[in-house]
Amino acid sequence: MKKITVYQDKIYKELGDLYGLFFEDINHAADGGLYGELVQNRSFEFCEIDKPEYHSLTAWDKAENCQWQVLTEKPLNEENTHYLQVNAESGSYIINNGFNSGIFVEEEKEYVFSIYIRTDVAQGEIVVSVDEPEEGGIYAKGVVEVKASEEFVKYQVVLKATNTTWNGRLYITFGEAGVYDLDMVSLFPVDTYKGRENGLRKDIAQALAEMKPKFMRFPGGCLTHDGALDDHARNSMYRWKRTLGPIQKRPSWRNNWRYNQTLGLGYYEYFCFCEDMGAKPLPVVPAGFNPHKGEGVALEQLEEWVQETLDLIEFANGDESTPMGKVRSEMGHPAPFGLEYLGVGNEEIGAGFFERYPYFHKAIREKYPEIKIINTAGPFAVGEGYEDGWRSAREHGSDLIDEHYYSSPEWFLANMHHYEDYDEKGPKVFLGEYASWGNTYYNAIVEAAYMTHLERSKAVALACYAPMLCNVDYVNWQPDMLWFDNHRIMKTPNYYVQKMFMENQGTDAVEFTKENLGEIIPLTDEVNLVGGIFITGNDITGSIWDVQVEEDGVVRTLGDVSVEDNTQHHITDITGEKFTLTFKFKRSSGRKGLKINFGARDDKNFLQWEFGGWDNWDCNIMNVSKGRGSTISHRIFHVRDEEYTLKLVVEGRHIKTYVNGEIYNDVVDHLPELEELYVTASVDKKQGTTILKAVNLTGEVKEVVLTLDGAEKKQAEIISLAGYSLDAVNTLDEPDKVKTVKSDTVLEDNQLHYTFPPHSVTVMVFS
Ligand code: AHR
Repeated sequence: MKKITVYQDKIYKELGDLYGLFFEDINHAADGGLYGELVQNRSFEFCEIDKPEYHSLTAWDKAENCQWQVLTEKPLNEENTHYLQVNAESGSYIINNGFNSGIFVEEEKEYVFSIYIRTDVAQGEIVVSVDEPEEGGIYAKGVVEVKASEEFVKYQVVLKATNTTWNGRLYITFGEAGVYDLDMVSLFPVDTYKGRENGLRKDIAQALAEMKPKFMRFPGGCLTHDGALDDHARNSMYRWKRTLGPIQKRPSWRNNWRYNQTLGLGYYEYFCFCEDMGAKPLPVVPAGFNPHKGEGVALEQLEEWVQETLDLIEFANGDESTPMGKVRSEMGHPAPFGLEYLGVGNEEIGAGFFERYPYFHKAIREKYPEIKIINTAGPFAVGEGYEDGWRSAREHGSDLIDEHYYSSPEWFLANMHHYEDYDEKGPKVFLGEYASWGNTYYNAIVEAAYMTHLERSKAVALACYAPMLCNVDYVNWQPDMLWFDNHRIMKTPNYYVQKMFMENQGTDAVEFTKENLGEIIPLTDEVNLVGGIFITGNDITGSIWDVQVEEDGVVRTLGDVSVEDNTQHHITDITGEKFTLTFKFKRSSGRKGLKINFGARDDKNFLQWEFGGWDNWDCNIMNVSKGRGSTISHRIFHVRDEEYTLKLVVEGRHIKTYVNGEIYNDVVDHLPELEELYVTASVDKKQGTTILKAVNLTGEVKEVVLTLDGAEKKQAEIISLAGYSLDAVNTLDEPDKVKTVKSDTVLEDNQLHYTFPPHSVTVMVFS
């Protein structure tokens, strides 16, 4: 008989704020996403720095009888320098195309149209409407009465939709001939999340709020630090102060994911959203160092950046008598936001970051000792960047350290015990970005299994899946938790798993025992890295010579290789347990280095030594499983146009690399395996409930007798994600293919006989 006994009174660990969200403005998560604005390029500020094909009239069209030009001579203000000058005849119009297939308006709903106009027309009418160009139908309509003015004047009208369309265009039709200067053309739903002005798209925000996140990290990962050091540069790093104030006075910026950010969704709005969801805000500031360029602000100038960070804390927590508290209050929020967590940096590696971090840390600690400061551990779950981050966090006494990794499901299955031997007394782990590569049902249930281990680890304090949002027509990165177009959303299986764990986190993990549930099931018996060896240039040209392979004592000398066009060269095949590959290499052009694949069973399953990978920063070992890569060893290395002697030594699954005789990588590639049933248990002291989460990754049912030791519980709500094929996904057309179902059951004498379905995630809430 298989049994689980939950000891409701034996507290194992406080769960605190464990499960939260990570918002990054990637995949048009903000403009054209969570931010409610329906007009694209509302202030004519788009330009080629944002994206090569952008210009100030992107997303705009006009009637033939209308002349237009974008000018900067007499701008609305110094942040918003471009405006549109229209030379209209009576009946001329301009059109905005919105995002995706167009502008979405819903029957009976209201929309606020606003615009800044300066005109020489003494008195006139402008008709504003949402039409479908091809059908010609009008879906919403309003009229703005304008008067001649020397300066820009704001006009506003509320349109009520008479029908629904998601292919709409915003038409602005001029009744009187004349010259009109236009700026900040906006169409905003009245029905935003919590009814906030300049607010958030309701369906997306609600789906996030329903997860009951404990915190939200924002405004992004690479978005925060991938930019210029000058805060007035178009492609600046994310400087939070520039996102405050009236929206027409906020600058328009390049978003490093190759589009434009209006900053209409700025820091004030992020804080409000957190408050509205009941989540703690967790902002991340750049530390004056851009790892993408290896460029940092001079240490003598760092003071300004540190002060900006202190100002952020004052903005969030200071009372109205403080300068930044006053700014917050004037924006509409007199009460403090109650900031507790602050991240400095996002997965930076290299000395440039770690010499700057202490300045921030010291200043924050001195002035705001109550703030929990978060350091950063690079982009991988292991390696040099990771170790540097942890060293810095321990040395300075950071409260938490932000870890990021995106890996294959097989990596997660092989590394369930990743945090087992972490010191619970040192800095706590904030797993600030993680996901298995994919949005299938299988990805989601493997993540669920991993989350049971996160919940049990005393070293892990916070965790959030990444990225959170993706507009289907503007994909920069996938997988993502929640997808959408201009009128629909799609919750992925991964979303459901996150929600199950988040909503039912509990206040404290408690002890439990498993009986007859301890089987460990290996997923493969591939103990040796047999298979092909291939070498490919990574966007370079160069030469390889003196190639030798020694396999189980036998030496083979192989031919020279000319590296060009990223052509893959087959070197040899390995059949035994041990081999050593040696060769000489010299790059003649390009910035990176080589990809050396070994143990290649086919083109989707192999190990890879990346020599000069990413931006020529990495000397990594990666496990590629079913085409999805996981970094298992990382060293910093910059390849130069010099001669290198490279050596790869493999014994079983133990891999070592040497560069000019010096060891660089030394790692054992662990094989994936399944636990018979992944389980975690908690109590919610506020609700008086007990919670059991169980993940069955096997293909068989698990019949289990559950016993609750301690206080009597009479019933259980069961939330189940089960019964789907492993490759099942949701789509916008079939958004509910994979979803959770709820049922209730009763307990007898604090016991429940339950059969966990194959490939399932189950949360039971006992009350
Ligand atoms: O989540 C997508 C990106 O992955 C983030 O911007 C960055 O932090 C990470 O590399």
